[in-house]
Amino acid sequence: MPQEAENIWDKKVSPSPESEPVQIQAQKFGMDKIRIIGGRRLEGTIPVSGAKNAALPLMCAALLSDQPLHLTNMPSSLHDIRTLSAVLAALGVQVTMPKEHDFILQAKLIKSNIAPYDLVRKMRASVLVLGPLLARTGYAEVSLPGGCAIGTRPVDLHIDGLKAMGAQIVLEDGYVKARAPDGLKGVHIDFPKVSVGATENLMMAACLAAGETVLSNAAREPEIIDLGECLIAMGAQIEGLGTPEIRIKGIKKLHGAVHSVIPDRIETGTWMIAACLTGGTLKLKNARLEHLTALIDPLEEAGLKIACEGTDIIVHRNGRPLTGADIMTAPYPGFPTDLQAQFMTMLTLCEGSGMVTETIFENRFMHVPELCRLGANIKVHGHSTIIRGVEKLKGAEVMATDLRASVALVLAALVAEGETVINRIYHLDRGYENIVEKLRACGADIVRLSGGE
Ligand code: EPZ
Repeated sequence: MPQEAENIWDKKVSPSPESEPVQIQAQKFGMDKIRIIGGRRLEGTIPVSGAKNAALPLMCAALLSDQPLHLTNMPSSLHDIRTLSAVLAALGVQVTMPKEHDFILQAKLIKSNIAPYDLVRKMRASVLVLGPLLARTGYAEVSLPGGCAIGTRPVDLHIDGLKAMGAQIVLEDGYVKARAPDGLKGVHIDFPKVSVGATENLMMAACLAAGETVLSNAAREPEIIDLGECLIAMGAQIEGLGTPEIRIKGIKKLHGAVHSVIPDRIETGTWMIAACLTGGTLKLKNARLEHLTALIDPLEEAGLKIACEGTDIIVHRNGRPLTGADIMTAPYPGFPTDLQAQFMTMLTLCEGSGMVTETIFENRFMHVPELCRLGANIKVHGHSTIIRGVEKLKGAEVMATDLRASVALVLAALVAEGETVINRIYHLDRGYENIVEKLRACGADIVRLSGGE
């Protein structure tokens, strides 16, 4: 019998009262599983963690200054945060953790300009060191991240933008090798496609470039605004955050700052969908509903009641059966691709049918066959899926394929009849802090099991 597993980060990443460097250890992902007995309503309070996708670029911003960047409300126990800490440490950044959700990152000296394959392959977001490292030192070598489960995910927009700013870039031995010995220069970059990562990378690089950079067709995600606000706190001159045109006036040096990471809108949305699906009432603490406007209408259409109390969001189902709704993912302020799998899971039990269209990534329906194994009726037609509601899902053994697909399976298991075992849940550890504990506190019958396949 597999044993209930300990949360490895609880042990390895305990907060360091003396502000010692964070112990960046090899990640023992293991092959832990989650077992859920479905059918319990969720009732209770879930504290929402700091946003992973805001925290990652914010950590990279530390490369732009020799002074300390103090980040609070960090989702410290996430594997992705650990992986990026290791990448930054390899470059010479001192990463310390004075409190559980606080990180201090100081890049006093850059001791290496190379982000190696071994670390970058674990997490694509490592490519976000490219812009700031190049801008600060004039040289950066970053391993090409390669494809991933949700699509090919090229980084051409990052590279083209830096080239336009005067960098000489070659792709050699699987690495992006970028050189700008005389520094980067401000230019007008009109992105042919909206990219969160490219906007972040170039916004950071532009802070230390000579002259003004204009980013047109820039991403408008709350995480971009959060990064921009932190950079402004570090002395950067940025205008137009949250609009498609961001203007950055380069300066010679940035200084340290203290910045609080925004609450995770994708985690928040995941729990809102969970309440709608399970029929319970959840209070989501420290959340920002204004970051989830595209989710409100379809969730209300499906039957969710949403109220705000200060920074808490309270959600419950209206007592009637779930109603089908249609969504199409799009860059912010559109429906987030990172909530597509969860929303689709909710539709599996709706009355009638719903349609989900994915426009951001070409391969983000990996959860479909797994949901079908639980009894869902989903047909894929190119970039769209038709979900015809079924009366019930039935527990089975399933496989997590990427972060959001994994949490979608957790949601499905919460309402499936009987036992569901989800394999390969290391994906969840990349992006959801204490998910088992958070759900168990709201009444879910959920346990983490250690062990092989
Ligand atoms: C960010 O990825 C997020 N990651 C993703 O979250 C999220 O799904 C995605 O934005 C879209 O919202 C982080 O913030 C760390 P993009 P990113 O560049 O920046 C294409 C999660 O589950 N593209 O906006 O990599 C790309 O292939 C994750 O937390 C190019 O063609 O996404 C995609 O089709 C996964 N060339 C589209 O643009 C490029 O150079 C949008 O990607 C860059 C991107």
